[in-house]
Amino acid sequence: MQRREFVQRAAAGTVALGLGRLGRSEEKAGRPVRVGFVGVGNRGSGLLRTLLQVPGIVVPAVCDLIPARASAAERLVVRAGRGKPAIYAKDEMAWTKLLARGDLDAVIIATPWNWHAAMATAAMEHGIYPGVEVPAALSVEECWQLVDTSEKTGVPCMMLENWSFRRDNLALLQMVRRGLFGQVVHVHCAHCHDCIDHWFFDRATGNDRWAAEFLVKYNRDQYPTHGLGPVLSWMDINCGDRFETIASTATDSFGINAYLARKFGADHPGAKRKYAQGDIVTSVLRTAKGKTVVINYDMQLPRPYDNRWMLQGTLGVYNEQRNAVYLVDRSPKYHQWEPFKPYMAKYNHPWYQDGGGFGGHGGTDGLEIRLLVDAVRRNKPTPIDVYDSVVMSAIVGLSGTSIARGGVPVEFPDFTRGRWQNRKPYFGVV
Ligand SMILES: NC(=O)c1ccc[n+]([C@@H]2O[C@H](COP(=O)([O-])OP(=O)(O)OC[C@H]3O[C@@H](n4cnc5c(N)ncnc54)[C@H](O)[C@@H]3O)[C@@H](O)[C@H]2O)c1
Repeated sequence: MQRREFVQRAAAGTVALGLGRLGRSEEKAGRPVRVGFVGVGNRGSGLLRTLLQVPGIVVPAVCDLIPARASAAERLVVRAGRGKPAIYAKDEMAWTKLLARGDLDAVIIATPWNWHAAMATAAMEHGIYPGVEVPAALSVEECWQLVDTSEKTGVPCMMLENWSFRRDNLALLQMVRRGLFGQVVHVHCAHCHDCIDHWFFDRATGNDRWAAEFLVKYNRDQYPTHGLGPVLSWMDINCGDRFETIASTATDSFGINAYLARKFGADHPGAKRKYAQGDIVTSVLRTAKGKTVVINYDMQLPRPYDNRWMLQGTLGVYNEQRNAVYLVDRSPKYHQWEPFKPYMAKYNHPWYQDGGGFGGHGGTDGLEIRLLVDAVRRNKPTPIDVYDSVVMSAIVGLSGTSIARGGVPVEFPDFTRGRWQNRKPYFGVV
């Protein structure tokens, strides 16, 4: 089904939205799922627009530090006919009142990084499912706080890692699970996205946006989850295997000063300041079952976007940049790449046969939000659970520790407390 058709039919609320369980569940939705929002800046308002296309939801409350943003979000909700949200915008703790309303089923959290763990923890304590933006936590302590709270309250916690829901990554997961690559041995992933010229700093002035502070203070993989998201399920991390160690190293910091001086002149305050954050961080993770992952942070040098996914197994290799695979006894020519596209069509994941996604990031935003709402509606676990959320996020703090210690391997906590040995793969199992 095309996105436009999905949206029109969803808005009309008249027809089955997909062919499978997810579409039928949306069609039958009884009481609407009540979703609050905390943080409706760029990402939060984008997610709100996406959510407003999902059938069977209302938005009773929105919160942002900046009242005009909360009001703009309110207008979006009213225009979509999904209620008239109460606004919480008085101060930076107004979100505590939103969570205490007593009528929310879920809350989307899209605030700056330092708020995520505290907000998601409080949501769970109120019995509210948090859908929290990336990364869910910044330190190992915050990771444990999320795990402990989810276990204590029984409320699932989902980090909104949208790249786990990409059509190509899900097709690859289907291929991995059918054994086409044999035993998975090694994966490479990265987040290569020049964010200096628009996200860390204001595009027009070069002045700091909130995230610039993190570049001044820390040297670590600040944004590991987009690369690592799909890798967890390809490698059965937390359900059959687990990360045991991480060793990280960073280049010095060149790109930020060079960019700001080039664009705004050598006297711009940002061009003269010292940044702790190195340009390229390379981390090597080793698993309990003897496999490895290389993950790169690469957000400060001019370049096109890339995730550099590469997966190697005993029967073949996948390379996202080449959009190609080589599979023993399947690929037509010995040791020659063949296009991935036909495999992607053949192993299309059921989620993409069930209405798929819509909204930003190639539809991944719509799919992850549909699945989150569906989990809340049915009082079921979320499609990404608390353990996967924190394993992706823990890279932030652990890579910083390893870099500070000269690149030595650092122990990776077992957030499942041993249960990874018996847990069954769950992500994308339908
Ligand atoms: N998954 C993705 O593809 C993706 C893309 C972009 C951003 N993000 C994530 O989304 C989050 C937000 O990023 P952004 O680019 O939208 O930033 P932003 O600055 O545009 O929006 C953040 C909003 O949070 C509000 N805020 C700050 N403190 C608050 C508080 N205490 N209470 C209520 N509101 C508060 C700000 O006023 C602002 O409107 C970040 O965690 C970022 O990593 C994810």
